[in-house]
Amino acid sequence: MPPAVYVVSIDPQASTVWWANRITDLPFNFSQEHETPENLAILKDAGAEVHVIANQKGGVGKTTATLNLGAVAADVLSHSDRLMHVFIDTPGSLQDENLLLEALKYAKDVIVPMPPEGLAFDPTARTIEQVIQPTGLPFKVVINNWDPRDGTADLLDTEAYIDAQGWPRARTVIRRYKVHTRASVEGRVVTQYPKNRVAMEAREDFFRLALELGYGGGK
Ligand SMILES: Nc1ncnc2c1ncn2[C@@H]1O[C@H](COP(=O)(O)OP(=O)(O)OP(=O)(O)O)[C@@H](O)[C@H]1O
Ligand SMILES: [Mg+2]
Repeated sequence: MPPAVYVVSIDPQASTVWWANRITDLPFNFSQEHETPENLAILKDAGAEVHVIANQKGGVGKTTATLNLGAVAADVLSHSDRLMHVFIDTPGSLQDENLLLEALKYAKDVIVPMPPEGLAFDPTARTIEQVIQPTGLPFKVVINNWDPRDGTADLLDTEAYIDAQGWPRARTVIRRYKVHTRASVEGRVVTQYPKNRVAMEAREDFFRLALELGYGGGK
């Protein structure tokens, strides 16, 4: 039975590969395709929904979101008998815009992770206005890396900014947890986190996001 989820990286920086290679028991198929982006067409032809995770600002959580959304979707769809979802991790730089544009050709929708900080506003706006909106694809901005200990001011500012731009925003906010930061070093995805309270909370954000985005539902 093929796994229900395929995760692809087209980021030449390849931190996804570095992470994925450390995971001993990957719950999805994975490949690096920045040199062969035409392979994305094959995945789309398999009838799967293709989701592109994009923001040309670096370090906003694209790789974290891609691998963990892939993991929770694979978990929920573990009894599926066919490929249902493809998640594509894309470069966090302006140089590789051609690769991002290539991925968008196959996309059903786009997820735009963004941290709750003013410095991320302009670069995120550039990606959305110059690259995503011209394709006409549906997209959703997901606030990632919010630390509840910092209070809600930055979160509320960021939500207000996104809403003022008229961009669709996920209700689910991915909170900041050390366990996510450590996961890449330890070679884990959320579904493989230890079963303690904090790790379960961290995991819950991704399950909630997948549910909100409709990645768990059957079809
Ligand atoms: N919700 C979170 N909680 C804790 N750490 C996080 C969270 N999201 C991202 N990080 C950490 O922030 C760093 C950047 O995240 P990530 O690599 O996913 O971003 P990226 O957008 O893929 O970066 P790049 O543009 O360089 O590819 C990583 O160290 C990651 O572990
Ligand atoms: Mg990345």
